[in-house]
Amino acid sequence: MFHSIRPAILARMQVLEQIDRQDRANGTPRLQRLRQITPETGKFLALLAAGSPEGMVLEIGTSAGYSALWIALACEMLGRTLHTFEVLPEKAHLARETFRAAQVERVVKLVEGDARDHLGQVEQVAFCFLDAEKEVYGECYEAVIPKLVKGGLLVADNALNHRQTLQPVLDRALADERVDALIVPIGKGELVCRRV
Ligand SMILES: C[S@@+](CC[C@H](N)C(=O)[O-])C[C@H]1O[C@@H](n2cnc3c(N)ncnc32)[C@H](O)[C@@H]1O
Repeated sequence: MFHSIRPAILARMQVLEQIDRQDRANGTPRLQRLRQITPETGKFLALLAAGSPEGMVLEIGTSAGYSALWIALACEMLGRTLHTFEVLPEKAHLARETFRAAQVERVVKLVEGDARDHLGQVEQVAFCFLDAEKEVYGECYEAVIPKLVKGGLLVADNALNHRQTLQPVLDRALADERVDALIVPIGKGELVCRRV
């Protein structure tokens, strides 16, 4: 997967990494920043998604599509589609540009709108990456966990750098008998929940 990333995908990843670095350095307002995952986290997500059972692959919080490109590597390999949700039109516009430039439109379906309006309709979820505003994590967690197939994974970003805000969700997941959960100290901290 990592040894054969197509040039169009690599090029777009590099463009987004550069924009993200500039955003953080030059004080771009929070809502305009891409706020994307680290490359190491991207590899971690791709590895987890690649080993997930049969079922839907989801992402909540697309931004410009950087993490989606990593998850798309696993989807291409497995012959699946990634459904990724983005609420802000400006970010959805950037993401569309990303998926076109990286030539992954065949495997990535961008859904523009609040993910919470759509999660009621998803079924048989094999893998879900949650990376939206921290205030909606609890609601998204409760919507996705019952939809996970056995062995399905929910991975949530910012478990360490936003630990205080996310503590109620983290406590809920770690005590939730429907899943085995662990916080992995990679990138900004990934909460990994596997449906038992
Ligand atoms: C941290 S950024 C996502 C970064 C992206 N996952 C990456 O690593 O490339 C969070 C994104 O989630 C979007 N978002 C926040 N709440 C959302 C919701 N309820 N439904 C869909 N998207 C949401 C924001 O507009 C923002 O673009």
